[in-house]
Amino acid sequence: MDMESKYIWMNGELVEFEKATLHFLTAALHYGVGVFEGIRCYATERGPAVFRLKEHAQRLVNSAKVLGFRDLPYTTGELVEAIKLTVAANGFDECYIRPLIYLAHGGWNLTVDPGKPSVGIAVWEWKNYLGEEGLERGIRANISSFTRHHPNVMMTKAKITGNYANSVLAKTESMRLGFDEAILLDPQGYVAECTGENVFLVRGGKIYTPPAVDILEGITRDALITLARDLDYEVIEQPISRDQLYVADEVFVCGTAAECIALREIDFRVVGAGKMGAVTRTVQRAFHAAIHGQHARSAEWLDYVDVAALAMPAREMALA
Ligand SMILES: Cc1ncc(COP(=O)(O)O)c(C=O)c1O
Repeated sequence: MDMESKYIWMNGELVEFEKATLHFLTAALHYGVGVFEGIRCYATERGPAVFRLKEHAQRLVNSAKVLGFRDLPYTTGELVEAIKLTVAANGFDECYIRPLIYLAHGGWNLTVDPGKPSVGIAVWEWKNYLGEEGLERGIRANISSFTRHHPNVMMTKAKITGNYANSVLAKTESMRLGFDEAILLDPQGYVAECTGENVFLVRGGKIYTPPAVDILEGITRDALITLARDLDYEVIEQPISRDQLYVADEVFVCGTAAECIALREIDFRVVGAGKMGAVTRTVQRAFHAAIHGQHARSAEWLDYVDVAALAMPAREMALA
């Protein structure tokens, strides 16, 4: 995976890629004391556009609040502008965007209070997170032997860096077993989410997804629920059991990195017809239209990056 770009935004400045480094004794690195976002910018006829940027920036700030950070150095609005500036400075038409707020000073006494949160924003080109083939054919998943976080053990509404050790355990196991992705059950044994995606199933023409209570409230999940309802599908949020996935007509997962992708097999059981189903395809098509500025929802969901206006301040900042 090529994560290279020209500049990374760090605490108000665009710094050259090679210079965006941290000290080994950064508490965030040792204790997972950070919060992050995963956002995508898409090519449209009107230039690069960031999908649901304000919602992502708000979730980043909410994650910081959940972790306990009291004073952030930037407002949500400033973070939105910094993200657009970073996209413009790097000149990508399409890219993945990774803001991170982390504890750079203090934190060795296992509190967030003595330190000051720092902020970085990187962008890079990252296509087909779950593989190009999977987009058309669907992918294979297993139910993980690892349980998803209990919401009073780790805060599941927040993208806290430390939370992701759970995802790393599940995804590593899944790939070593020969699957593409893992589905984690919650502590009660109901379907929670994947390592970086939310889960949906289709049965009898209706769409079901687990309630928000112990999952990350995915922004793609919200977009797909909206798009499906626009298309007159009934979307029901209710607890889902493992075997309800096995007997579903279709199962699909979604997230910023993975976008919208079908599961064709779960635990060696073929899902539906063993390929992407009609409902998944319809929702996936609406999503692709929305992210590329070709859907009635695009106007409210896309934040266009004015590259011409931002490129000059970006260059000045990078040279400063
Ligand atoms: C655990 C988990 N669930 C769900 C999602 C999907 O969220 P979103 O659609 O906002 O990217 C992600 C990715 O951010 C995730 O890490």
